[in-house]
Amino acid sequence: MQRNLILLGAPGAGKGTQAQRLAARWGIPQISTGDMLREARRQGTELGKKAQAYMDGGQLVPDEVVIGLVEERLGRPDAKDGAIFDGFPRTTPQAEALDGLLARMGRDPVKVVAIEVPEAELTLRLGGRRSCPKDNAPYHVTFNPPKVSGKCDRCGGELILRPDDRPEAIKTRFVEYQAKTAPLTDYYGRRGTLRTVDGTGELESILERITVALEGAAHG
Ligand code: AP5
Repeated sequence: MQRNLILLGAPGAGKGTQAQRLAARWGIPQISTGDMLREARRQGTELGKKAQAYMDGGQLVPDEVVIGLVEERLGRPDAKDGAIFDGFPRTTPQAEALDGLLARMGRDPVKVVAIEVPEAELTLRLGGRRSCPKDNAPYHVTFNPPKVSGKCDRCGGELILRPDDRPEAIKTRFVEYQAKTAPLTDYYGRRGTLRTVDGTGELESILERITVALEGAAHG
């Protein structure tokens, strides 16, 4: 069975945290455009250099850049049974491009789950997030601390504060989200494929809410 799932949500809603868990449970890849762009930056590619200024300031990277990345990633063999999209699509043109891509590739249409968290909690989450630059695991100094302070549980690498988790960039990310990404709830809501879950509380409870919500969601 093929599964194509989009996790929608504001910055810090827990898309990456839950996408990693769902990917492990279902044996399909997490496609995170944020992680892919950060990897391109680390490798110093032209695309990574182009994305850097947008990302550090909290602005969205141009649509054509991320659409190209997703097209290439979806064509890899490990995504033939589906994928969990984390941080993509983020604009209406990206959503339209994904519809077209899945149709051209003969894949099943997407189901969509929006994770809702109040903005005050999002700000606390982002300010305290620490990320592993190697395997992209997200931690939080209080809510989800690593076993050894400052070190990734999986690879032992040093955890970092993302440049866009500084207060000014967080504000810009919220503005970008409201202007460009929040309208996607209407885009998918009109098709009856959108389900919304409460993204507060224990990580495992949220994972269960997502899986239960998916059972009732139509393919859009
Ligand atoms: P991206 O990396 O996608 O960032 P984002 O959407 O802002 O999302 P985050 O990664 O910040 O949050 P998340 O929802 O994954 O939360 P997480 O699980 O980490 O994008 C970064 C940048 O790249 C963009 O600003 C843009 O420039 C560019 N970009 C990426 N995709 C793009 C696209 N499609 N188009 C254009 N530009 C694009 O959790 C957050 C924190 O909360 C963690 O510390 C976690 O431990 C903690 N936490 C999680 N769940 C809980 C919980 N239940 N209780 C308490 N704490 C929790």
